[in-house]
Amino acid sequence: MKIRPIPNILLNLYSSIFTLQSALHVLDSTAMKFRAVKGTYDILPSNLAKDVYEDQNRWHYVYEVVNRVLGHAGVKELTTPVLEQAEVFVKSVGESSDIVVQKEMYTLQDAGGRLLALRPEFTGGVMRAFIEHGLHVQPMPVKLWNRGPIFRAEVQPQRGRFRQFHQVNCEIIGLDNPATDAEAITLLYNVLSELGLKNMVVKLGSVGDPQDRVAYNQYLRETLEHAKLSETSRERLKLNPMRVLDSKDKSDQEIVKVLKKPLEFLNTEARAHFDAVQKYLSDWEIPVEVDDSIVRGLDYYRRTAFEVHHNSIGAQSALCGGGRYDGLIESLGGSKTPGVGWAFGVERVLDAMQQDGVTVAESSKPILYFVALDDEAVSETMKASFALRNYHHIQHGYTARKPGKGLQEADRSGATYAALRGKVERENQSYQVKNLRSGEQVEVKENELKNFLERSTKGEE
Ligand code: HAM
Repeated sequence: MKIRPIPNILLNLYSSIFTLQSALHVLDSTAMKFRAVKGTYDILPSNLAKDVYEDQNRWHYVYEVVNRVLGHAGVKELTTPVLEQAEVFVKSVGESSDIVVQKEMYTLQDAGGRLLALRPEFTGGVMRAFIEHGLHVQPMPVKLWNRGPIFRAEVQPQRGRFRQFHQVNCEIIGLDNPATDAEAITLLYNVLSELGLKNMVVKLGSVGDPQDRVAYNQYLRETLEHAKLSETSRERLKLNPMRVLDSKDKSDQEIVKVLKKPLEFLNTEARAHFDAVQKYLSDWEIPVEVDDSIVRGLDYYRRTAFEVHHNSIGAQSALCGGGRYDGLIESLGGSKTPGVGWAFGVERVLDAMQQDGVTVAESSKPILYFVALDDEAVSETMKASFALRNYHHIQHGYTARKPGKGLQEADRSGATYAALRGKVERENQSYQVKNLRSGEQVEVKENELKNFLERSTKGEE
């Protein structure tokens, strides 16, 4: 008998199966060790949450308030993809922004060799969408808001500084009128106030027009040339001198304290714009503090720049940042269109809400829990449960139980009533309904259950 060699194709297949099996074997032994990636976390059903970030109810509450307050102001929600061409962000946040300089952008190359990025902010993608969908023909201003995950490759992730976090972002596009800057700040203030924040401070400044920034940067380079700055600030002095003002280093702060501030470099028009924004906010009784040295970490800002801080949440005290970005849409290939906007970090706002004692309603508990006392009742109770779910939150067990055990399960579900069904109830076409709070028990006919629950939710049972 002739022995035929095993064809190559089969050898390859065997060897790949073998590799896969050994890989799975390794996976199997380590499977229990998988954890959320550092700097990311899960948002859990509220009853399982150990932290405000994890509490799904709090997220729903934040988004409900945002949707209501911004909705009443005609701000429409826009959802953009998490993935964009990396160039969109390099062009928008700018070559000298922290995001680009500190390599905070997560990028990847697709099969076609295109460089893509997980969005490190919303604004660039929103402006790309504005241009792509020809929104410049809409009546101005176009008001848009966004929510969702944002990615920044933070070197040292910690509380309030994540690699995947979430922003609520808002843009008012199309007008260079200072009333729109003031409206953007007012909307922000109203959203945060409606969320229950009390100890927040809105800081308002101006980074001027491009020529003002050039002059101020020149002044900083000359003045700080021989100063003993930290290494980070030395780097910033080369690439984006204004960012030296944001240094967290104590000795840098001493040096910076005596310097002239960006507000002293505003040209006449930029100054008039800044004064007008303040006047509107004062007319509308929106409390703001003028901060003459606000500088933002993104390059696109012109004139108005603002931040909201909350001192009780520690080092990461900036809840929100924003400002005007005239020139950004042009730089992405659109027509000359001004704009102003802001974004807040939802995690930081959740921390601030907790510090300010904001509580959020618990998620709904079932009004009724069906307990099957024999096998036949399993299907019957589940059918009844599905029908009543059109009106109420209803739960049920999946196997027959003894009454004691069934009632225990009903109680653990948080339900107000337990409805028990066995042979006797089947014959009577009814349920034994027990109020789990008062212990009171009544027999309710099958076709009366809906009315019974209706009356009980109105407080009549
Ligand atoms: P930003 O100042 O870079 O501005 O970010 C806004 C907010 O996002 C911050 O104030 C902070 O609350 C939150 N945040 C930033 N980094 C992190 C992080 N690693 N972990 C947790 N939260 C963080 C922008 O993104 C601009 N696009 C805002 C804007 C919109 N300007 C005009 N329109």
